[in-house]
Amino acid sequence: MKGIILAGGHGTRLSPLTKVTNKHLLPVYNKPMVYYPIELLIEAGIKDIIIVTGKEHAGNFLNLLGSGADFGAHFYYVLQDEAGGIAQAIGLAEGIISNESVLVILGDNIILDDISEYTKDFKSGATVFLKEVSDPNRFGVPVFDNSGKKILRIEEKPNKPQSEYAVTGLYLYDSTVFDKIKSLKPSERGELEVTDLNNLYLKDGKLNYVILKEPWLDAGTFESLYESSKIIKDRLIKS
Ligand code: G1P
Repeated sequence: MKGIILAGGHGTRLSPLTKVTNKHLLPVYNKPMVYYPIELLIEAGIKDIIIVTGKEHAGNFLNLLGSGADFGAHFYYVLQDEAGGIAQAIGLAEGIISNESVLVILGDNIILDDISEYTKDFKSGATVFLKEVSDPNRFGVPVFDNSGKKILRIEEKPNKPQSEYAVTGLYLYDSTVFDKIKSLKPSERGELEVTDLNNLYLKDGKLNYVILKEPWLDAGTFESLYESSKIIKDRLIKS
């Protein structure tokens, strides 16, 4: 299994912090944001990690992270010429991944659960990771059947969310993911949506889910970036 960290985008919600650097290089307490997904993947036993980012700040990622040797890992860098959605960015890694599963994480998501049991046992299909939130309309939201156990579909940023859960930016996919991405059509905002990709697995009856137990942080806004630093600091003091 290889890992993909998506670290592109313009980080406009964090301007002017992102005027001269990439969002994923900003500090979350005592480390650059991108260290958190890297450490999550390495703790889950994934040592081959593909970092997808834009041209503008790619050099800074190389300077900061290098070959991966400092982390006991091996990093590959893939350039995204233009932002075209999460699914499009995953598709760019196809050349590096040969017939194996991938763990994908959005570079601004900080996941504090130990996910190694899910990566170890993963065989086929896809797994999404859910977290109960107070503002599901900002995210991908699962719609459950009457039993409340089975996901019927996932809706992207719905006006009227059908559950209190967000689909977090952590995804496990089998090697059929690249063919599935090729069959996607751009959404209204012109992007290949990860939610459409997950719905394809769902249609095949191959989408599983896990509910995260620890806090989930998405450090892409001023408020959440600040909260993330606070939570990480508090956890360091306690440990
Ligand atoms: C993206 C996805 C959304 C997911 C979220 C998690 O949204 O489209 O389904 O819930 O990441 O962070 P974005 O942050 O790009 O608006």
